[in-house]
Amino acid sequence: MRLLFIGDVVGRVGRRILRQLLPKVVGELQPDFVVANVENAAGGFGLTAEVWAELSALPVDVFTSGNHVWDKKETGPLLDREPRLLRPANYPEGNPGRGLCVMTSRRQGVPVAVLNLQGLTFMTPMESPFRTADRLLATLPPEVKVVLVDMHAEATSEKQAMGWYLDGRVSAVLGTHTHVPTADERILPLGTAFITDVGMTGPYQGIIGFKPKEVLERFLLATPRALEPATQGGALAAVLVEVDPPSGKALTVRRVFRWEKEGQPHAPV
Ligand SMILES: [Fe+2]
Ligand SMILES: [Fe+2]
Repeated sequence: MRLLFIGDVVGRVGRRILRQLLPKVVGELQPDFVVANVENAAGGFGLTAEVWAELSALPVDVFTSGNHVWDKKETGPLLDREPRLLRPANYPEGNPGRGLCVMTSRRQGVPVAVLNLQGLTFMTPMESPFRTADRLLATLPPEVKVVLVDMHAEATSEKQAMGWYLDGRVSAVLGTHTHVPTADERILPLGTAFITDVGMTGPYQGIIGFKPKEVLERFLLATPRALEPATQGGALAAVLVEVDPPSGKALTVRRVFRWEKEGQPHAPV
């Protein structure tokens, strides 16, 4: 079976790409299960009820997120209410929502677990994503063999460490959060597909999806600025993992990257 994982959807451009490009990509690649990280879907920061209504109608089975899922107050009730909308599992108890779900694939009827974790390096200190993964994977029923992990983290080393830690125990460990696709997709020795970062689905003509002016001011002046998503250079970044359902082992992994329009990367900001 094929799993398609779509990297961080950023703002209006990211959502437009999902609406317009995803059906084409799904038609072409025929995934049995689709997951998308939507932590930046509403104006680059979190989710609103309106954005959720739009996203949840798309051909996506499970939505993951990350540190930005807390940016809008209304996301809390959504996380509690929507079983296929995840937040990183290792946030302390008492927060809304959950970081693990099991859904059935549409065509083959295979149970697929999705686990969302967040790294600690250069990020908010909280429960170890490694220990959280141990604890939650132990709760999965034995018939759940196909497990996809969204490792939302800043440090490349921490993401790779999670890949090796879970090698042979899950079908894929896919990195998100940095919005920059890496070219290191591979199958680890015990059968887990891995990539350090899937990249973002959003506007590439900017700084990790945002208009450069305010980001530059932050760096030059060291004072806060409100950031706005960029508008040009839209692209979909995803990874396609082929999994053997009886064993849960990954067979192949490949990057999927599609510009929204020819020539967009050179368009003005
Ligand atoms: Fe992100
Ligand atoms: Fe993030």
